[in-house]
Amino acid sequence: MSQADDFTIRRAAATDAALLAELGTGTFIETFGHLYTPEDLAAFLDQAHSTAAYARLLGEPGVAIWLAFAADSTPAGYLVAGPCKLPVPALEARAGEIRRLYLWRAVQSGGLGTRLLGIAFDWLGGQGHTPLYIGVWSKNVGAQRLYARLGFDKVGEYDFPVGRHLDREFILRRARVAG
Ligand SMILES: CC(C)(COP(=O)(O)OP(=O)(O)OC[C@H]1O[C@@H](n2cnc3c(N)ncnc32)[C@H](O)[C@@H]1OP(=O)(O)O)[C@@H](O)C(=O)NCCC(=O)NCCS
Repeated sequence: MSQADDFTIRRAAATDAALLAELGTGTFIETFGHLYTPEDLAAFLDQAHSTAAYARLLGEPGVAIWLAFAADSTPAGYLVAGPCKLPVPALEARAGEIRRLYLWRAVQSGGLGTRLLGIAFDWLGGQGHTPLYIGVWSKNVGAQRLYARLGFDKVGEYDFPVGRHLDREFILRRARVAG
């Protein structure tokens, strides 16, 4: 049994907006908080990781969110998937996207991220999404290595706003969907 099997994964429900806001805010700050001014960070967290933002996301047609919990029921991480919203020229009509994937640092590198991605790939495939896209910070080489191993190739770049700051992001594409 791998370490990733110690976690329970379930689909998030409408009642999980506050839990997701806490998890989304905490894991974003832990991973990337040091990169931004307090003003830019606060604006981004309010826009993307507030309870209201997750309530909207949970109600968005075609979006699915998974939550992973440790054995003691502590939230460990989450993944958001749905139709692709990245700025891809001539985007395929059925393109899907892994929109967010964040784990607490304490549970990283144990296979949980790969397990969540496998669940999302199967679900996206079942929804008829093909191909799949993911946006990743240009300097997040660890995540890029994982996505390359799972069959994603770089197809473009764009600027992702965090408050008034612009992050350079790579757009990755995976022709194969399930598996
Ligand atoms: C990226 C992430 C979801 C991967 O999940 P994970 O469970 O840690 O990864 P797995 O154990 O399944 O696979 C290991 C691979 O993940 C990547 N990885 C591991 N820790 C990482 C970290 N702190 N940051 C980025 N990538 C990481 C590496 O490619 C690693 O492979 P390696 O051992 O050859 O270096 C997770 O590390 C994470 O949440 N990181 C912080 C947030 C983040 O960067 N999210 C991605 C936004 S696009």
